Amino acid sequence: MTDSSKPTRWHTHPDADAVATAAANRILQSATDAIARSGQFRIVLAGGRTPEKAYRLLADADTDWRCWEIYYGDERCLPADHEERNSVMAREAWLDHVPLPPERHHPIPAECGARQAAQSYRDTIATALPFDLVLLGIGEDGHTASLFPGQSHPPAELVHPVHQAPKPPPERVSLGERALNDSREILVLVTGAGKRKAVQAWKQGDALPVSRIHGLHGADVLIDTAAAQ
Ligand code: 6PG
Repeated sequence: MTDSSKPTRWHTHPDADAVATAAANRILQSATDAIARSGQFRIVLAGGRTPEKAYRLLADADTDWRCWEIYYGDERCLPADHEERNSVMAREAWLDHVPLPPERHHPIPAECGARQAAQSYRDTIATALPFDLVLLGIGEDGHTASLFPGQSHPPAELVHPVHQAPKPPPERVSLGERALNDSREILVLVTGAGKRKAVQAWKQGDALPVSRIHGLHGADVLIDTAAAQ
């Protein structure tokens, strides 16, 4: 039963570039509102490739980076400088190009292994909740962050070690539903025909990991026409 007070709002755009522009604009507006409200902006980044275009746009943004606190929704258990790390993609596309104070960038120490990194990151985000904005992608199987269909985790656990993930690498670390849902805003970026089936399943109400993330006030989905058809 979907919670009508936490709706999923679909916003269709012509292509991936338009999704990226809309995402960057929404993120900056969320930052402006949060900084005006509390003096800081706590954002959780999505991994994978979809958000990269939006991250590149944010590298040129005019905002007070001293107020940003940057966390990650998930990370792959690879060396800290490995090109397949979500943190490496975010740094190369965006974070290494802006004056974000290093102490306000909180990568998941996934190079330490899933169990140890999850334990460490629980302590990191316990003091960060509620988030202002959580960015997410969606996999072709309906996974989000590193929450995969068919895998279960303790519901009260803020950060999970993930083993045998169907999307390589098999060892990962992921924020859990409880942490991802403790956010004022949820922004899901979806582009490309490869995501069509997952989107259709989501819209018809299938119990996918992504459909369980609605935040405190619902989720906004920025989707291109290729994924929406
Ligand atoms: C990861 C991501 C994952 C990603 C989806 C979509 O570590 O792989 O966190 O959840 O968001 O798999 O990936 P793409 O954006 O590359 O399609």
